[in-house]
Amino acid sequence: MERTLIIFKPDAMNRNLVGRILTRFEDKGLRIAALKLQQSPRALVERHYEVHKGRPFYDSLVEFMTAGPVIVGVLEGPGSIAVVRRLLGATHGQEAAPGTIRGDFGLDQQYNLVHASDSPETAKMEIELFFKPDEIVGYKRVTDRWITSEK
Ligand code: CMP
Repeated sequence: MERTLIIFKPDAMNRNLVGRILTRFEDKGLRIAALKLQQSPRALVERHYEVHKGRPFYDSLVEFMTAGPVIVGVLEGPGSIAVVRRLLGATHGQEAAPGTIRGDFGLDQQYNLVHASDSPETAKMEIELFFKPDEIVGYKRVTDRWITSEK
């Protein structure tokens, strides 16, 4: 089953929005395969956002993502990578459509609440960067057979 990495950023943590946002992912039918609270070391955040190194927002982004604890997770479900990105909405809260997480809860480009992997390649890299294999749990819920016909 397809897996994607999510990070509840320090703005979501400080605004007490984690529960409400996680509920949206659960409501959609996605399954939590891993979830942990951590204060991310600077080096880890720098590796995670390596593709943005040199862009004007990079330093501020690293500062923001290390400003407090985050909750990192792995969500699982058919098409989960694209599905989670659509649930989040556009990067900038002012452009994100109403009904999306950023459209409903955010107004900013940097403080955009949740990070999610954008492709199968990045999902694999990001999951391996944040989780050891034994921190990810494969299991079935009793409801799964009513959520997807995929095995
Ligand atoms: P995220 O999806 O985690 O990927 C990169 C992050 O950089 C983005 O969300 C925002 O938090 C932040 N960011 C700040 N400014 C920009 C920008 N101009 N373009 C893209 N991302 C930005």
